[in-house]
Amino acid sequence: MSKTGEGDGYRIAVLAGDGIGPEVMIQALGVLDVVCGKFGFKVERERCLVGGAAIDAVGCPLPEDTVTSCEGADAILFGSVGGPKWEGLPADEQPERGALLPLRKRFGLFANLRPGVCMRELRGASPVKDELIPNGFDILCVRELTGGIYFGEPKGRRDEGDDVVAFDTMVYSRGEIERICRVAFTAAMGRSKRLVSVDKANVLQTSVLWREVCIEVGRDFPEVELTHMYVDNAAMQLLRRPDSFDVMVTGNLFGDILSDEMAMLSGSLGMLPSASLGGKNDQGLYFGMYEPSGGSAPDIAGKGVANPLAQILSVAMLLRYSLGEVEAAAAVEAAVSAVIASGMRTKDIYTGSEGETLATTADMGQAVITALDL
Ligand code: IPM
Ligand code: MN
Repeated sequence: MSKTGEGDGYRIAVLAGDGIGPEVMIQALGVLDVVCGKFGFKVERERCLVGGAAIDAVGCPLPEDTVTSCEGADAILFGSVGGPKWEGLPADEQPERGALLPLRKRFGLFANLRPGVCMRELRGASPVKDELIPNGFDILCVRELTGGIYFGEPKGRRDEGDDVVAFDTMVYSRGEIERICRVAFTAAMGRSKRLVSVDKANVLQTSVLWREVCIEVGRDFPEVELTHMYVDNAAMQLLRRPDSFDVMVTGNLFGDILSDEMAMLSGSLGMLPSASLGGKNDQGLYFGMYEPSGGSAPDIAGKGVANPLAQILSVAMLLRYSLGEVEAAAAVEAAVSAVIASGMRTKDIYTGSEGETLATTADMGQAVITALDL
């Protein structure tokens, strides 16, 4: 069953990383155990070093052994990396840049799906006024992840007389735009069939091409209503009426910024998973890396207060997109919703309203497991 053909189950590489990564990962793996038992499949896990933990142990944020384990796996379950301890290192050696960007590039993880969901019950935790989001909101940001200004060449700096010049290049090819747009249109087909493409076509050549290609791809998806929005306007509309969005597709840099905005609007980073998908195999399953949208949160690490739901929901995305265990994925998501509906709240989403119970990281993980058994 595993792509390596060994053993009788799937295989995943587990990269817990730094900060709250390891403690939320324990909860997520506990949920995975239960779901495997319930749905009758096995998932072998290989634990690998990444980020600051890898720097401390072997001197680099993405050791070769870790890459090899990921190559042999059906998917990567990632925690989070980084922290003050490694902030003084040169940028390319820091955990975030030195591990995340090379992993994305190495595995061709070009499609980053970042849900920005504010459940109705959690509206109080969102900075948006309740009356503007009577039913919460549910946005899916599809961000291009291996192109654009992050990776474009030339990139660098040079001295020019007394001055210094630094430069990055935003490049997009037709092929890169086409494949990300297909992912977004396909996602829109499975939702409310509305797609907003975000660009800066009033200024950037890459955006002019982006718009053209997006419209072309849209001809293959006549049922999807496609609109275009400039990125500055999108930033504003998200604040004004987040519930007017369904699926959004955009380039690497704009997606980086807008997905953080969306995450903030949803009320808690601790609730949001993400998937970074590469190519599909013959069974239509993606190789992917799954991780919480939030960071390593070093300020709360080790205190047992971190919200494990983003990591648990990342497991659900992994089950759906990389293992094709769609029912198991839906069961995990339903269990998380049930736990929220029951009033369990980690500190990040606790508002003190009637019916809420303050929960630790472990309480929350256990509650999801209990809900799965019901
Ligand atoms: C993210 C992060 C990364 C990015 C950084 C850490 C390289 O902000 O995953 O959004 O900019 O893509
Ligand atoms: Mn970011």
